[in-house]
Amino acid sequence: MKILVTGGAGFIGSNFIKYILSHYPHYEIVNLDKLTYAGNLDNLSDIEDNQNYQFIKGDICDQKLVERIVEDKIDVIVNFAAETHVDRSIYDPKIFVETNVLGTQILLESALKFKTDIFIQISTDEVYGSLGKVGAFTESSPLLPNSPYSASKASADLLVRSYFKTFGLSAIITRCTNNYGPYQFPEKLIPLFITNALFSQELPIYGDGLYIRDWLYVEDHCKALDSVLHKGKIGEIYNISGSYEKTNLEITDLILKKLNQPKSLIKHVKDRPAHDRRYALDSSKIRNELGWKPDASFEEGIAKTVDWYIANQKWWQKIKTGEYLEYYQKHYVLREKM
Ligand code: NAD
Ligand code: TYD
Repeated sequence: MKILVTGGAGFIGSNFIKYILSHYPHYEIVNLDKLTYAGNLDNLSDIEDNQNYQFIKGDICDQKLVERIVEDKIDVIVNFAAETHVDRSIYDPKIFVETNVLGTQILLESALKFKTDIFIQISTDEVYGSLGKVGAFTESSPLLPNSPYSASKASADLLVRSYFKTFGLSAIITRCTNNYGPYQFPEKLIPLFITNALFSQELPIYGDGLYIRDWLYVEDHCKALDSVLHKGKIGEIYNISGSYEKTNLEITDLILKKLNQPKSLIKHVKDRPAHDRRYALDSSKIRNELGWKPDASFEEGIAKTVDWYIANQKWWQKIKTGEYLEYYQKHYVLREKM
């Protein structure tokens, strides 16, 4: 099987490539990645010489390039490539529409033109919007995105659906909850707080910190995608979740305890506009129909993640310089103005 992974130099994509090459050593992987601020070839240094792995630097919006790659006997496209940070989508929505919507459409066109066997769109629980205290979204819940990020991901989902319905493209959509684990860019809650706490820096909690996310260890997401790739039904949507719901303050407490750091590092800052209060997914469909379940409990996953960031300081210290620090200076100013 020859798989085109887009966005494979990012957090989940790089974990997925390594998962596939270790579980299916005879599969071939082509990784197309633009190497934005979030793309990092260091994530893949241990497999870069693998004979069945090829990296191509490029943009999913580049139709000619995408066609050239897909024409070369690609069987499956797994589309991870995206702009992914909600805060950035508030400051600069345009690139989210370009990559997440137009880029997906270009991939869909190529999949159709060269008749790939499966197109897997990696989507997110954020397309459903925000939940109250009880309940969980199913695959048939309405799409009610609240940020430019989630709106662009919902738009891409609708395009994928339309290519399945209109042109009969063999496509599947997966919607996963918040991931955490090794190689996550330190702008997202868990890696930002671990790397800040390690150096006794402030942990900026948005608003009251009682916002709830449903967390999944990244390897369990890769395992779920393995089930979808091999057993998923064309035209279906699969929710993926561990059902480990935590408030941001609970997570912060766990990180601080694990690192033996004081609660005084917590700083409540101005809230994110349109901040979704709670995400939770009903993932009974993938569990019952494809036999998937997560292996890591939240406590195990977070312990492994903290240990990974302690052991891999070189990886994230290289990121937390120059461009990253400039972004943060701008981010703090922009957030206060909102
Ligand atoms: P990430 O930000 O770590 O990585 C995104 C990757 O896409 C980077 O390597 C980047 O260089 C690449 N990229 C961006 N624009 C591109 C373009 N135009 N052409 C080619 N490559 C491009 O993201 P992630 O957290 O690994 O998320 C991967 C996917 O999973 C995204 O589609 C995201 O919406 C989805 N998702 C993420 C989470 C999560 O918690 N991280 C949860 C559910 C779904
Ligand atoms: P994030 O990792 O950005 O993921 P998402 O918004 O896509 O779920 O944020 C997770 C939660 O943590 C969200 O409720 C916002 C909150 N958060 C903070 O309180 N402080 C921060 O510095 C960040 C990055 C996030």
